[in-house]
Amino acid sequence: MNREYVFGSYRSRLVVTRSLPDAEAVGHRNNGAKTLFVCDANTESIARAIAGDSGAALVVLPPGEGAKGWNSVEAILAAALKASLARDGLFVGVGGGVVTDLTAFAASVYMRGARLSLVPTTLLAMADAAIGGKTGFDLYGLKNLVGTFRPADSVHLPTDALSTLPAREWLSGFAEVIKTAILGDESLLDTIESNVEAFVSGPAHPLAAELLPDLVSRCAAVKARIVEADPTETGVERALLNLGHTFGHALESSAGLGRLTHGEAVAWGIARSCELGRSLAITPPERAERILRILTAYGYSTSPRHPAGSSADAIVAAMANDKKKKAGALRFIVPLESGATIVKVEEKAIRVLLKESSIE
Ligand SMILES: NC(=O)c1ccc[n+]([C@@H]2O[C@H](COP(=O)([O-])OP(=O)(O)OC[C@H]3O[C@@H](n4cnc5c(N)ncnc54)[C@H](O)[C@@H]3O)[C@@H](O)[C@H]2O)c1
Repeated sequence: MNREYVFGSYRSRLVVTRSLPDAEAVGHRNNGAKTLFVCDANTESIARAIAGDSGAALVVLPPGEGAKGWNSVEAILAAALKASLARDGLFVGVGGGVVTDLTAFAASVYMRGARLSLVPTTLLAMADAAIGGKTGFDLYGLKNLVGTFRPADSVHLPTDALSTLPAREWLSGFAEVIKTAILGDESLLDTIESNVEAFVSGPAHPLAAELLPDLVSRCAAVKARIVEADPTETGVERALLNLGHTFGHALESSAGLGRLTHGEAVAWGIARSCELGRSLAITPPERAERILRILTAYGYSTSPRHPAGSSADAIVAAMANDKKKKAGALRFIVPLESGATIVKVEEKAIRVLLKESSIE
């Protein structure tokens, strides 16, 4: 894949390859404009391999969500200043969604906006985080409290970078891949369904490695199409990407942040969304059952009573903090025969749904 998308007033080129790009490919110029690579301790070797002998500066952040705060933003801005980046300077974020969100935020505010390329290195960041321009960092204990919309000028998705990803992170990303297929690519859902063994084995499995560039391209294309239709989430299209997330975020925070991966929580949330859609006679039963079968095959816990063990009351209480709550009603995305739709549901109805599912 090598295709340009238009996200509002930005043009963003998405390039899927197997091997890593070089510095020139990600936008480094040999004309005096400076480049800063941003990575974390687990992606430093990938960033150094891309930077090569370009002379670009490099800043290494601590890994993980705990580092997605103002301190890291300041470290990136300080490194940019030290490396003498001007407005024609280039920020290159190499890492998972934490690094790509932080780098994109820093690039969007540095001197009122510098150039930006992203090289996502987790499946989640390739399928979702690095595409579409949402930047941000966590503040006061709230995820992504501060952020901007700034799509990268180019996003490079080299599937070889996934070879070092820990197994749990790989599977966590797969929940977003399944979500993306449900939303916008039926033939991707078929591929996911018929290659369970290869994909569950990980990116080194020969068949998974062969299928990966197409899988990543399809996910990127679905996300890009949705963002093109609704770049700043003022309409309904972009909100569909939250399939499974209202339930998932609530489970994640009520279970204690860090206990479940994002993907494990989202997969459980997709299962609950299927149940909600079925109870409202919106999701056809066969569709809901197929999605549940796929999630189970990929090893996710889909049973109403999640092993992380939060009560229905705790989960509903955690939803009250969800920023997607509007005018007293919670918004949920539920699957349709093809694609998904938004429903507004009162808290008490969700409480009943979770209790009837005997979650307690
Ligand atoms: N901007 C968006 O639209 C959007 C969408 C979804 C998620 N996100 C954000 O993405 C973040 C989650 O992203 P994530 O799951 O990629 O987490 P992450 O960035 O924390 O990466 C997960 C772990 O994998 C390590 N890692 C990354 N690439 C590796 C590689 N190739 N080999 C070995 N280790 C590697 C990281 O160092 C980290 O320890 C959250 O902060 C979330 O808010 C943003």
